[in-house]
Amino acid sequence: MKVAIAGGHGKIALLLTQLLAGRGDEVRGLIRRAEHEQDVRAAGGEPVLCDIEREPVQAVATAAAGCDAVVFAAGAGPGSGAERKWTVDYAGAVKLMAVGVERYVMISSVGADPDAEGEDVFAAYLRAKGRADAELQASGLAYTIVRPGPLTDEPATGLVSLAERLDRREITRADTAAIVAGALADPRLAGATFVATGGKTPVGDALAALLA
Ligand SMILES: NC(=O)c1ccc[n+]([C@@H]2O[C@H](COP(=O)([O-])OP(=O)(O)OC[C@H]3O[C@@H](n4cnc5c(N)ncnc54)[C@H](OP(=O)(O)O)[C@@H]3O)[C@@H](O)[C@H]2O)c1
Repeated sequence: MKVAIAGGHGKIALLLTQLLAGRGDEVRGLIRRAEHEQDVRAAGGEPVLCDIEREPVQAVATAAAGCDAVVFAAGAGPGSGAERKWTVDYAGAVKLMAVGVERYVMISSVGADPDAEGEDVFAAYLRAKGRADAELQASGLAYTIVRPGPLTDEPATGLVSLAERLDRREITRADTAAIVAGALADPRLAGATFVATGGKTPVGDALAALLA
């Protein structure tokens, strides 16, 4: 399949690009800096310059044209303020809902909640993520929302826990990428929203259990 990844130079995005390219999928990595093109190519993807905050929806649609699925893997990042949580994590994700691609996999966050309480930047982040998730759930698109716990850069374990509600617990970015890759391969996961943490169940089995 052809997959467009918004935030194509992110850590999960590059791991996901490797997994997808390795199984024969075509990946378009939407990035905002030309100096990141080579990393996307090295992972097996095709870089496309597309700043999801600045570009109008038509330009993002052009960048994703012809794709079977989109993945939202962008993020304003830990150093950013509340304003960019709204322009990237919320508005960027919403823009990607309007590009005309039916299948949408969202990398959200454990605790994402439109009503998350608090005045700090993390609370703003959880509200931005929660509102984007709510709009995706109401969009009519074939969505899957993955809500990972705190991310680590440890190697893949292949073992996870997936459920509608789980205690906050770490997960590797590599395992998160494998969950997203698995979700993309299974259209029956359309309509699913779940938390993802490290655990004891192989990724494929954990995804299959969500269908039961
Ligand atoms: N950190 C955690 O513990 C945690 C937990 C749960 C969920 N998450 C979520 O998981 C997702 C992926 O995490 P990650 O660690 O892989 O992220 P990451 O490495 O920080 O990557 C985010 C990517 O988004 C890109 N980006 C930012 N603004 C953009 C724009 N306007 N247009 C295009 N790309 C843009 C960044 O590019 P630049 O380099 O150009 O800025 C960066 O490559 C994020 O949505 C994050 O919120 C994180």
